[in-house]
Amino acid sequence: MRITLSFATTADGYLDDSTDRRLMISTPEDWEAVLRLRAECDAILVGAETLRRDNPALLLRDPEVRARRAAAGLRPDLTKVTLTRSGRLDPALRFFTEGDADRYVFSEKEIPAVEKLATVISSEGSITPAFVVTELERRGIRHLLVEGGAEILRMFLDAGLVDTVRRAVNPQLHLGPEKGGAQFRFEPPQGARCTLENLGGMEVLTCELHPDTGEEDRRWLAQAVREGFRCTPCASCYRVGAVIVLPDGRTFRGYTHETSPTHHAEQEAVAKALAAGADLHGATIYSSMEPCSQRSSEPESCTQLILRCGFTRVVFACYEPDRFVHCQGARTLREARIDVRVYPELAHDVQEANAHLGR
Ligand SMILES: NC(=O)c1ccc[n+]([C@@H]2O[C@H](COP(=O)([O-])OP(=O)(O)OC[C@H]3O[C@@H](n4cnc5c(N)ncnc54)[C@H](OP(=O)(O)O)[C@@H]3O)[C@@H](O)[C@H]2O)c1
Repeated sequence: MRITLSFATTADGYLDDSTDRRLMISTPEDWEAVLRLRAECDAILVGAETLRRDNPALLLRDPEVRARRAAAGLRPDLTKVTLTRSGRLDPALRFFTEGDADRYVFSEKEIPAVEKLATVISSEGSITPAFVVTELERRGIRHLLVEGGAEILRMFLDAGLVDTVRRAVNPQLHLGPEKGGAQFRFEPPQGARCTLENLGGMEVLTCELHPDTGEEDRRWLAQAVREGFRCTPCASCYRVGAVIVLPDGRTFRGYTHETSPTHHAEQEAVAKALAAGADLHGATIYSSMEPCSQRSSEPESCTQLILRCGFTRVVFACYEPDRFVHCQGARTLREARIDVRVYPELAHDVQEANAHLGR
């Protein structure tokens, strides 16, 4: 999934003022650009406090964009997402009542009042950005737009999950601590690729924190998927293939049960790399399926193995179905700040490799 953070602040870093009124910070030109950005995304996320304070509808306004989405078999509006610990959400909020959209509420509490209006998702333990991203990706979201407020922006940035930041500053607006509300400052880290433009007076900075590596990822991942077909079909496991790519360009491959009836593809590839004396710190592992998070026949899961070896990136095509266990691989890896990328456009071949297990 790609994740974009987008927000507008006053010159002194405020997202809002302290009144009940919604403060308009953007110029019309900037607001148009924000709507165009929304149209490139699949889902839009704001915190519960923003819903309570501003009551935004979070819609796509352009009828052409909505019609194009509908023609492609999508709901006309973006999927709307919010997070709450308290469960304090009024079903009359425009989040629930306006637009034709899927709606997800990540909540630590049950909220019976909104259960008919949205899918409520809870987590064992606290709701982390890694959990949110993984659950949305499992439901088909490929590009998530996070629009605020301050707590939510901070949480996603601190988790290291943000690919692009769009910061729009209105240099004419100063509030000061008396009048200022939620505050959020973003300064680009060293080495980030940034561009600056002026949109009707707004200073808009766009920073790429993680460049899009999609083309190269898909090339290696296709090879991992092909490796999976080398495994003999068996009723108790998936046929999976893996390819490790080291920073120095060396590669190692493996597939399920290649040398042992209890080995997964990732283990086979790691064993070959270690036997060759490779240091796996900073390496990427491509696997046709999400690395497992639970094993009974081996001392550690592939997720634990990946963490122990020091991989920095994990790329796969298909989330593990809930057939044998409920896999937590992607979430666990993301929570450990591993860069996890999923390319479901390659999942069809993984499903074909595993057709012997039935649907
Ligand atoms: N200028 C802009 O671009 C822009 C954009 C968006 C918002 N805003 C402004 O931002 C202000 C709100 O910012 P804020 O920082 O006060 O609030 P916020 O970020 O909108 O929402 C915070 C709330 O999100 C929920 N939450 C946060 N982390 C969570 C977690 N890990 N698990 C479950 N729930 C979680 C909690 O809801 P509960 O309290 O329900 O537990 C928390 O109170 C508003 O004034 C709004 O106008 C400005």
